[in-house]
Amino acid sequence: MTSQFIITKEHRRFAEFADAVRKQNTIGVCFGPAGVGKTLSARRYAHWDSIGPFIARWAARSEDDTKIYAAAHRARTVFYTPEVSATMRALQDDLRHGPNPSLLELIIIDESERLTGNAVEWLRDQYDRTGIAMILIGMPGIEKQFSHYPQLYSRLGFAHQYRPLGHDELLFVLERQWRKLGKTLDPDDFTDAQAIAAVERITRGNFRLPERLLPQIQRVLKINELDVITNDVVEAARSTLVIGTT
Ligand SMILES: Nc1ncnc2c1ncn2[C@@H]1O[C@H](COP(=O)(O)OP(=O)(O)OP(=O)(O)O)[C@@H](O)[C@H]1O
Ligand SMILES: [Mg+2]
Repeated sequence: MTSQFIITKEHRRFAEFADAVRKQNTIGVCFGPAGVGKTLSARRYAHWDSIGPFIARWAARSEDDTKIYAAAHRARTVFYTPEVSATMRALQDDLRHGPNPSLLELIIIDESERLTGNAVEWLRDQYDRTGIAMILIGMPGIEKQFSHYPQLYSRLGFAHQYRPLGHDELLFVLERQWRKLGKTLDPDDFTDAQAIAAVERITRGNFRLPERLLPQIQRVLKINELDVITNDVVEAARSTLVIGTT
């Protein structure tokens, strides 16, 4: 991961939601538009940056492992991303190789629109058998997709909307990015305020876009031998990012 994880308000809301799903042993659905931070939040909640690679490499065990065991013990959560149009068989194989089920309290499935009908049915059945809480993450509309599975749907405890980045948090992100470019961002300065407004207009709360925009801003500055990030610079940078900004 290139940049540092920011504990946003949305991340805290996600963590509360996940705690609630887990405490009530239910099934929760979390939905939100592309790039708002759903995957990163879930991975963070599950301590998956350390536990995930650990599970993947069964063989090597070292002194550091105790730390990871401790993290896993606290998290008691598995984070799982199914492959595109994941079949029931693939899901069974993958989830069977996870940690000891008796220690598991929550399974988080990312990109859950990839699940086939059978896979959804199998998960529902697993939930009934094991009572392990489950969170299904997806794009807006996923809640409706699940309504086609009445047995799963009737077990849903929560639907949580992951909202886009708010204004203050975007400012926080931009201040860091400006600093990376060796500049300081001052929201009270007219030029900066306009540049911020431009970024806000372009990204609309998508967390991924400001990061894609930054190298382009840097390029525009360099090519044009400019020093200040203005509204025009941001717009010029945007125009080079053809995909995903409209
Ligand atoms: N809390 C955060 N702190 C720092 N950067 C973040 C955070 N959340 C998201 N990002 C940035 O935004 C990008 C997109 O986040 P993420 O992949 O979690 O979005 P998503 O909602 O899962 O999107 P998609 O629906 O496309 O899967 C990340 O790669 C990261 O650069
Ligand atoms: Mg994602």
